[in-house]
Amino acid sequence: MIRSAVVPVAGLGTRLLPATRSQPKEMLPVARKPVVEYVIDELAANGIEQILFVTGRNKTSIEDHFDLGESAVTKFFYTRQGSPRGLGDAVLAAEHFAGDDPFVVALGDSILGLHAKSQAVSRMIEVFEHNAAACVVAVEEVPLAETGQYGIVAPSGVENGAVRVAHLIEKPGPEKAPSRLAIAGRYIFSPRIFAEIRRVEADQRGEIQLTDAIERMCTAGLRVYAVQLTPEERRYDVGNFASYFEAFVEFALADPVHGAELQEMLRKKFEVLAV
Ligand code: UTP
Repeated sequence: MIRSAVVPVAGLGTRLLPATRSQPKEMLPVARKPVVEYVIDELAANGIEQILFVTGRNKTSIEDHFDLGESAVTKFFYTRQGSPRGLGDAVLAAEHFAGDDPFVVALGDSILGLHAKSQAVSRMIEVFEHNAAACVVAVEEVPLAETGQYGIVAPSGVENGAVRVAHLIEKPGPEKAPSRLAIAGRYIFSPRIFAEIRRVEADQRGEIQLTDAIERMCTAGLRVYAVQLTPEERRYDVGNFASYFEAFVEFALADPVHGAELQEMLRKKFEVLAV
């Protein structure tokens, strides 16, 4: 049973400046809740009982936010990434927390599904356990024209109903993409990932990429699998303004209390524009 998750929230969020000049992007509200609260709710609904936040400078509001958490069962722990040297480096900060057990990694800026009702992590845990996997990644089908923005998996077949991953290609153009399956913000790792992260060299920006460490697992012959998100579990990536705005509008329109009012207001606005 996998009961632990790591939520990296130490990135600088430079694509969301100036909104992120002094506050974390993970605390930006999407309708009524900050992004990261959806992530935590989703993890709790998938049986996760302890969560380690990997935080950094200017991120204390995240700790404050969860002080008075409504979730009675989830326990929160915090550690820091000295400087934001990439997602791989952030996961490395979880080594002591993880110990000898497998664990989930959930990006603190990515919501799965409109009400964060996704059961993807539970399906990933099942695949991990049934296949003696070293790693399972969530993937989402993206348009061919957009493969250059994501880590894309090269599938090698299906084993016990799960897609086996032969390789990961970082941001391939449409002509080079081995599939349209993009890594989508949720991972499960065996502790072997730490040794692989240590062997990854920093990229041109000085960042240690998590996908490079997973690719090392693939080339070492370890079992890596992909679990596809359903359309209802689509990923909202609050990493740039276009997708942040989309997430905010969709969640606000679907709000049980204020949604109808907002729909009516927008309908009137568009009616005026259409005249
Ligand atoms: P991104 O790659 O989107 O984050 O990380 P970023 O570096 O904050 O964004 P830009 O490029 O400057 O706009 C995805 C998740 O991983 C965390 C981020 O906080 C985010 O939740 N992360 C990223 C870390 O914890 N540490 C890092 O060094 C990088």
